[in-house]
Amino acid sequence: MGLAEVLPTQERLVPIRELEEMRERSLRDPEGFWSEVAGQLHWFKSWERVLEWKPPFARWFVGGLINASFNALDRHIKTWRRNKVALIWEGEPGDSRTLTYYQLYREVNRFASALKKLGIEKGDVVAIYMPMIPEAVVAMLAAARIGAVHTVIFSGFGPGGLAERINDSEARVLITADGFYRRGREICLKAIADEALAKCPSVEYVIVVGRIGKRDTPMQAGRDFWWHEVVEGAENYVEPTPVESTHPLFILYTSGTTGKPKGVVHSTGGYLVGVYATMKWVFDIRDEDVYWCTADIGWITGHSYIVYGPLLHGAAVVMYEGAPDYPKPDRWWSIVEKYGVTIFYTAPTAIRMLMKYGDGWVARHDLCTLRILGTVGEPLNPEAWMWYYRAVGRERCPIVDTWWQTETGAHMISPAPGISLVPLKPGSVTLPLPGVDAEVVLEDGKPAPPKQRGYLVIRRPWPSMLMTLHRDPERYKQTYWSRFVGWYFTGDYALKDEDGYFWILGRADEVLKISGHRIGTMELESALVKHSAVAEAAVIGRPHPVKGEEAVAFIVLRDGFTPSEKLRKDIEDYIRKTIGSIAVPGLILFVSKLPKTRSGKIMRRVIKAIVTESEIGDLSTLEDEASVDEVKKAVEEFKRIAEEAMEK
Ligand code: WT7
Repeated sequence: MGLAEVLPTQERLVPIRELEEMRERSLRDPEGFWSEVAGQLHWFKSWERVLEWKPPFARWFVGGLINASFNALDRHIKTWRRNKVALIWEGEPGDSRTLTYYQLYREVNRFASALKKLGIEKGDVVAIYMPMIPEAVVAMLAAARIGAVHTVIFSGFGPGGLAERINDSEARVLITADGFYRRGREICLKAIADEALAKCPSVEYVIVVGRIGKRDTPMQAGRDFWWHEVVEGAENYVEPTPVESTHPLFILYTSGTTGKPKGVVHSTGGYLVGVYATMKWVFDIRDEDVYWCTADIGWITGHSYIVYGPLLHGAAVVMYEGAPDYPKPDRWWSIVEKYGVTIFYTAPTAIRMLMKYGDGWVARHDLCTLRILGTVGEPLNPEAWMWYYRAVGRERCPIVDTWWQTETGAHMISPAPGISLVPLKPGSVTLPLPGVDAEVVLEDGKPAPPKQRGYLVIRRPWPSMLMTLHRDPERYKQTYWSRFVGWYFTGDYALKDEDGYFWILGRADEVLKISGHRIGTMELESALVKHSAVAEAAVIGRPHPVKGEEAVAFIVLRDGFTPSEKLRKDIEDYIRKTIGSIAVPGLILFVSKLPKTRSGKIMRRVIKAIVTESEIGDLSTLEDEASVDEVKKAVEEFKRIAEEAMEK
């Protein structure tokens, strides 16, 4: 299929000029532009200044007072949306629940009241470690209602990852569940939480949702309470706390280039303005839509585009608990058909996985309600793009490939059918959204010539940008604003083509993208070396057909340990229990030494070149040449075994 056929054929298309004009105006008069957008939300008190920019710290809508829960709920229940569906939830076993805006509002109020009764106040941190159930959304909005700061920790993290995040945030309360269903199995979340909690002195209370009816869930008297019990004695209404626009709405941890995860702090006012605007521009959200984002609420995509974005618009949101291919590879398509999903947003890794199952599973479902398909998290390769467009969208739906990050809070570079749809190119995220001053630059900061790789930077602040890193403003400055002074450094490689379209080429730092999840190589290495058998570890990424990338760990064992299949399994289990399953390396290889520089730094670049069979490059700083042969030997040995296994 040629590109011409991918050009917009949608109804409701307005001339592209409209997008150009909007972009031009947003950059000429950013303050006027953003205050117009902000005016569409409810403020208890209007702001005095749109932006206070003391690089690298930005404060948006200074002086304004706002509440996220009020904007997501109270605003709607005063209108006809009171009885409109807010959440359509489906559990993995096939059970389902729907909540109207009024019902969601009531649940949020009652849970906010329960939190207050426990003494949780404005500014306190509420940790949320929950499966994909409606109570997760309720917990986030309830915290926001009373001005508490939520920190959601993905339910796939193990006790180590959970404890580290709870401790860094100093959360006073943890909200969790007895468990959830995944691929037909019960995952006992509370048991994992208990293991973490033994190392979390800040947590005073734990509230547990009974999702799987596990009656023998251990509950610690005075600390642990069942959700249904605490809401029983709660009030029906809690006054929303008006907070300053710059009051943190949440902290969300993400991986960086050191061993320690970063606590990304988002504001309330600026963040809400960013997600509200992009929800409209990118997804063209309307009252008649049934919107489904398949992300987990534990990631920024869940925060911005399951919870805040759609609810600010009073949209109907689908939420699903389980695995995409359980019990059959068409589970997702059956959900789209069953609820009449109109906007569908997912990740490239999921598209590639479902593509592998073949067209038949998609073709047997009537997907005629779909009108916009979205993707995020890593580059969407043209082959997967075309499959998504053809097999899922039936060549009727534009694909919005959205580039953004935990730190940016909201979409930054993406097609915007809600404004006007530019011609699409499979694999490109197209053009920056209004208000986003993105550029691709070379080492010296000069714009890269067309088709030349450079660093993606953002040259001015935007409302939904992170405010800082929790308890580490210095690292905030260092990580994002020191590479090119005055500009935000994204950490991504990109290029612009002859039409000015952006193409994201992957991370330019020591961060891997495994199934769209961000894993810092050093975070994984420092977890590996805590295993009693591991002396040293080096982690690199290599391309993977479904996951996009996979981690390969090279391990030097301590004296007295010898490589074995059992030890490899043991190390994998150790990572699963500490960081969590998302960080388990795809491949573990044992070597007797690692390539290092004379000053002792591991040369990941050299290891990566060997694994990916590319040019090794300059070796003049290498300390010991035999280490390179060691890595080569391990890689060849692995290939031989893999080929033998293939032949069998
Ligand atoms: C990194 C941010 C933002 C929600 C999910 C990921 C990569 C993100 C795209 C895209 C190519 C993408 C970048 C970015 N990325 N979207 N459309 N095309 N790459 O959030 O975990 O903060 O990761 O994901 O490398 O820097 P995150």
